[in-house]
Amino acid sequence: MTENADVPRHVTIIMDGNGRWARQKGGERLMGHRNGVTSVREACEFAVEKGLGYLSLYAFSEENWNRPKEEVEGLMALMVKSILEERETFRKNNIRFRVIGHRERLPEDLLAKISMAEEETAGNTGLTLIVMLSYSGKWDIVQAASRYAKAAVEAAARGEEIPALDESLFSSYLSTAGIPDPDLMIRTSGEQRISNYMLWQCAYTEFYFTDVLWPDFRKSDFAAALEAFSQRDRRYGKIK
Ligand code: IPE
Ligand code: IPE
Ligand code: MG
Repeated sequence: MTENADVPRHVTIIMDGNGRWARQKGGERLMGHRNGVTSVREACEFAVEKGLGYLSLYAFSEENWNRPKEEVEGLMALMVKSILEERETFRKNNIRFRVIGHRERLPEDLLAKISMAEEETAGNTGLTLIVMLSYSGKWDIVQAASRYAKAAVEAAARGEEIPALDESLFSSYLSTAGIPDPDLMIRTSGEQRISNYMLWQCAYTEFYFTDVLWPDFRKSDFAAALEAFSQRDRRYGKIK
């Protein structure tokens, strides 16, 4: 059976092009990041209006730590500010907020705000908004493999049988455990690559690329992506 793609359950966005947007306006890169926050708010509101279950946003990759200190610190400070400012948006829209990524690398003050917002919104039952922070697909696969190996060693030490590894068990060790794989991945700014994003989870994701730079991304652009998605024929290797 093939699945006729209609409204996706999980949309993920690689929010790219903030730096180029700022350069076009003759500003600093951080100005682009700051303007991107408006696009994040619009994307969340649109996802709520469309009744999506999950919206995940690639906000900072493991590789992005290699950017100049000033930009990294500016981005971390912007995350702190944005979380504080968007609490009201979460409350009004019944949004559950989550952060996924290599948390050990994040600064203490940001971690504190993340925990606060996650706890505050844990009981919300509408859209789950997932911010992927200090995330990379390879990091995720490696941390899952090491956690499975540790569990296997511990089971063996207790004289228990080592749980056989299959795709479903492996998925349960990924940082995205319990979250359905993305149906649609949108990348802005014209780049057509995955940049070490959800490598495992995007096995059957539909990709949509747009030249729009992230700070210019509006509800109409999101709608265009959903329209394109509704025309896709998802076959999962089978035939029609
Ligand atoms: C995306 O915009 C935001 C992050 C990666 C943090 P960029 O900062 O990559 O913007 P460009 O690609 O340089 O234009
Ligand atoms: C990917 O964008 C990461 C995020 C959007 C957070 P990059 O701008 O870092 O990706 P590359 O370097 O162009 O592949
Ligand atoms: Mg970029």
